[in-house]
Amino acid sequence: MSDKIKKILLKKDKDKIVSLTAYSKSFAKILDKHCDIILVGDSMANVLYGLNSTDEITLTNIIEHGSSVRKGVKNSLLVIDMPKGSYNNPKQAKKNAQYIKKKTNCDAVKIESNSKNFNIIRELVKSKIPVMGHIGFTPQFKKKFKVEGNNKNEANKLINEAKLIENAGAFAIVLECIEPIAAQSITETLKIPTIGIGSSSYCDGQILVTDDLLGLSGFYPKFIKKYAKLDVIIDKAVKKYSSEVKKKSFPSKKNFLYEKRTK
Ligand code: KIV
Repeated sequence: MSDKIKKILLKKDKDKIVSLTAYSKSFAKILDKHCDIILVGDSMANVLYGLNSTDEITLTNIIEHGSSVRKGVKNSLLVIDMPKGSYNNPKQAKKNAQYIKKKTNCDAVKIESNSKNFNIIRELVKSKIPVMGHIGFTPQFKKKFKVEGNNKNEANKLINEAKLIENAGAFAIVLECIEPIAAQSITETLKIPTIGIGSSSYCDGQILVTDDLLGLSGFYPKFIKKYAKLDVIIDKAVKKYSSEVKKKSFPSKKNFLYEKRTK
C-alpha cells in the first residue's frame, strides 16, 4: 500500500478528508494545496462537455484529462473514474485500469458499484490497482435521481453493499446522496473511510464537483455550497475586454511586443 493511501486511511475517526474534482492542470495545481484526494470524475460529461449523461465519457476523455491533472498534482492522492462500459467484467476492468494507470500515473481508480461488481474490485486490488468504491446515487447505473437509504430496508442494503466493497479490498468509498442516518451507519460500520457528497457530515470526508462550488456550473442543488461566484467575475472581466477591444483601448502600447521596428 502506498504512503499516500496509508495517510488517507489514518484519517478515519481523526481528521476529515478533503476531496474535490479536477479536469485540468491549472485547477489541479491550486486544489493540490488544500486537498487530500483529487478525483478526475466522469462528471466532466456535464461540467465540461455539456452532455446529459456520464455514460458518454470515454477512456480517451478520462486519460486526456487525467494526464493534464497529473501535471498539477504533487501531494494529493490522484483518483481517476473508470468510465461506464470500461469495467463490465474482471478481465476487461483489469486491462482498462492498467491502461489508465500507465497513461496517467494515477494513484487509484474509482468504480461505481451496481451491487454485483465486487469481484471487479477484488481483481483490480489483486493486480495492485487501488480502488475507491462508490454507492448510493450512482449516475452510471441509476438514471433517476433520488435520495438513497431513506428507509430501513434500503439503508440495510446500502450497509451490506458497503461491507462487501470493503471486503473486496477498496481503500475508501464515496457515498453519494445517501440519507444522513444511513450514511452515519455506513461510516460507523466500515474500517475504511467514507467520502460523502450530499450525504451529510456523518462521513469521514467530503467531495464536491469543483465547478459547482466555484459557481461555474449552473447546477446548485441543496447539498452544494457555492463558495465563490466565478461566473460573475468572468462575466465582468470578459465584458471589460469586449468593451476595450471595441473602443480600441486594448491592446495599448503597453501590450505591444515591440514599440518600433528595429529596421
Ligand atoms: O464524477 C464525479 O465527479 C464523481 C463525484 C461526484 C464523486 O463521481
